[in-house]
Order: sequence, then structure tokens, then C-alpha cells
Amino acid sequence: MAYNLLKGKKGIIFGALNELSIAWKIAEKSHEEGAEFVLTNTPVALRFGTLDQLAVKCGSQIIPCDATNVAELESLVSRSMEILGGKIDFILHSIGMSPNVRKGLSYDRLNYDFYQTTLDISALSFHKVLHVCRKLDAINDWGSVVALSYVAAQRTLYGYNDMADAKALLESIARSFGYIYGRDKKIRINTISQSPTMTTAGSGVKGIDKLLDFSDRMSPLGNATAEDCANFCVTLFSDLTRKVTMQNLFHDGGFSSMGMSLRAMTQYDKSFRDCIEQEDVSRMGD
Ligand SMILES: NC(=O)c1ccc[n+]([C@@H]2O[C@H](COP(=O)([O-])OP(=O)(O)OC[C@H]3O[C@@H](n4cnc5c(N)ncnc54)[C@H](O)[C@@H]3O)[C@@H](O)[C@H]2O)c1
Repeated sequence: MAYNLLKGKKGIIFGALNELSIAWKIAEKSHEEGAEFVLTNTPVALRFGTLDQLAVKCGSQIIPCDATNVAELESLVSRSMEILGGKIDFILHSIGMSPNVRKGLSYDRLNYDFYQTTLDISALSFHKVLHVCRKLDAINDWGSVVALSYVAAQRTLYGYNDMADAKALLESIARSFGYIYGRDKKIRINTISQSPTMTTAGSGVKGIDKLLDFSDRMSPLGNATAEDCANFCVTLFSDLTRKVTMQNLFHDGGFSSMGMSLRAMTQYDKSFRDCIEQEDVSRMGD
């Protein structure tokens, strides 16, 4: 059901690659809620993904842009204002990539060039987007900027690797820029800390299927899906959340407040008993 929450609002959505992408669902929901927006991704993603289908569905134009490149960002933001006929009201930063994760290099064996690339793509790009928008005075007063994060910024989760550091930096940028942009222009900046979600980026995380099961068992409300994230995100783009800024908002079915749940304990107990039985069987064979 649509509520016209974003009627008359204009935006830029970064990071929709294919229909599994969280940004894809946020674009669909924003469109349903009446927003107009430009879609953007890297030239490589445009070649390998299916963004053109989303653009048709949402009546959007696509502008290629590498979000680590300030000159490309300047051109994206200027062109978006021309296309949309004025300043922007909301931006989604849904960008993440770690070459170390891709190459299977664990946190104690990081390649430092890759590490810098992880931080540049997954965190500094957020600073660059905000910096360019401020320089071009591209966002209307009371506009809203959202980036997607993960609980590994606060807690260590096996296999999340240098992306944990990138998310911690991303959340810090939201606070630091949130102060400056809020003070000057009443623009709010927040991060949504989303449940693990099966997307192209998500599937790169070591043991994602087990992580999804574990966090679902741990969360009293179960994992939040990409569609759930889209519903939450449009409220942050809307005028209903005007005084929410500089926050990392957990959108994870309660996972981040849990220590142990009955469902997770039951599964652990079952696996534990299976383990003991297997040990007994192998001892009998001795
Ligand atoms: N999937 C999960 O489990 C999960 C959980 C919490 C947070 N997140 C975050 O959500 C965001 C979106 O990821 P997703 O899961 O939808 O996966 P996804 O693979 O669909 O999206 C990642 C996007 O980043 C884009 N990207 C990479 N390098 C870029 C660059 N230099 N410039 C511009 N765009 C670039 C990719 O092209 C892709 O569209 C990421 O920040 C991710 O860390 C994902």
C-alpha cells in the first residue's frame, strides 16, 4: 500500500545492480511513494547488471558514475539537478566492495592496497558524495541522506573482514557530516544497519547462508528483508522523520540487542548433541 510519502521529492539512488540489490527495492518503493530520481552505478555494473530494467519501471534516467571519483560525482549531481528540474531531496548511498573479501584474504593477511580500495569505495565515497552536494548546494533544506551499514561496525563477526572497518568509518562520516550539514542546511544524515541479506555483495561474505540462519534465529522478529529495508528507508526520506539525524539505525529484527535466543540455543544444543554422538561412534570404532 502506498501513502504518497515522497510525492514531489527528487533524489539520487546509488548502488542498484540487479533485482536482489537493496537499492533496487528502495528505488521501487520510492517510486511507489511518488518520488522522482536518477539511478547511478559504475560503468562496469551497468554492463553486467540489469539497471536499465529498473529505470524503465521507475521512469528514471541512468547516469554512470564511479562514486570514488569526485569529478564524476560533480557531473552526476549537476546533471541530476538538470534532469530533475531543481535541487534534490534525498540520496541513497548503497555501495560496498572489498577486494580483500573477493580474493579471500583474511583480516590478518590483508593486502593494504586492497584495504584502501575497500575504504575508498565503501566509506570515503560517502564523504565525497556529501562534499560534492554541499559544494554544489544540491540538496534542499530538510533533505535526507541515507547510507547502508552493518552491525559488524560495532561487533566482530567472523568473515566480515575489512568491511567492518569500512562500516565503522561510514557511520562516523554520517555523524561528522550530519553535524555540519544539519547546522547549515537542516539536512539529515543517517545510516541504516541492515540484517544480512542475500544480494550480490552479501553473497561475498564468508558463510553467508549460515550467518543468515544464525541471525534469523537470534532476532525476535527474524531477519529484515530488502523489502523491509525499503519500507524503513522511505520513512527516512519522508518529512515524517525530520528530526532524526546522525544516527545509526538498527534495522535487524532485534539482532543487535540480543545475546542468546531460545531458537539459537535449541539449534546449538542439537548440533552439540550430534557432535557428541559422532565422537562416541568414532571412539567405539577405536
Ligand atoms: N547484503 C547484506 O547482507 C547487507 C547487510 C547490511 C548492509 N549492506 C550494505 O548494503 C549496501 C548495498 O549492498 P547490497 O547487499 O544491496 O549488494 P549489491 O551488490 O547489490 O550492491 C552493492 C553496490 O555497490 C556498487 N558499487 C561498487 N563499487 C562502486 C563504486 N566505485 N561506485 C559506485 N557504486 C559502486 C555495486 O555496483 C553494487 O551496485 C552495501 O553498502 C552493503 O555493504 C548489505
